[in-house]
Amino acid sequence: MRSKIWQMAIGAAAILSLGLSSGCNNCAVSGAGPQRSLYERLGGEAAIQAVVDDFVGRISENPKVNITRKGSGRTEWQATPANVERVKKLLVEQICAATGGPQKYSGRDMKTVHAGMNISDGEFDAAGADLKATLDKFKVPAAEQDELMKIIVSTRGDIVERPAKM
Ligand code: HEM
Repeated sequence: MRSKIWQMAIGAAAILSLGLSSGCNNCAVSGAGPQRSLYERLGGEAAIQAVVDDFVGRISENPKVNITRKGSGRTEWQATPANVERVKKLLVEQICAATGGPQKYSGRDMKTVHAGMNISDGEFDAAGADLKATLDKFKVPAAEQDELMKIIVSTRGDIVERPAKM
């Protein structure tokens, strides 16, 4: 009986110490242990979903982004609720995967998706400014904003097809 209690105590201690070494909930406070992924620091999928909802809402209403590509020489994109939901879902997957989350991006590559949309640097910058406004609204700290912005800006070469503003 006595040895059984000891075994249980040793088991519990082992679980506790494992939890301490791998969970490291206080790393950010103590400065110890490995840096948490950007995905975790942003708050995981639910927080990224909220960011994408707000961001897509902003770019959809921003004529400087012109998400439907009206007047760009391309067939207009129909911003139907189903189309908007689809793009949001893929953006969430893409950002989760790119920031270290377990999700897999199931969409097409950025060059293929945006080919022929005639997107300018000015339109890309306007989308970047909308993302910054969203991150400010959700009070995302400067370090995490910078990291996420670098990831998004790294797609510029695949998305922008002309340097001039519209
Ligand atoms: C001015 C900037 C941008 C414009 C006007 C734009 C426009 C669009 C449009 C119209 C679609 C729908 C395409 C379709 O359903 O056939 C789309 C899809 C998408 N965009 Fe953008 N986009 C811009 C920037 C970005 C950026 C910066 C990212 C992320 C880094 C991004 C990620 C995506 C993704 C993930 C999809 C869905 C991919 C797929 O359909 O497989 N876009 N974009």
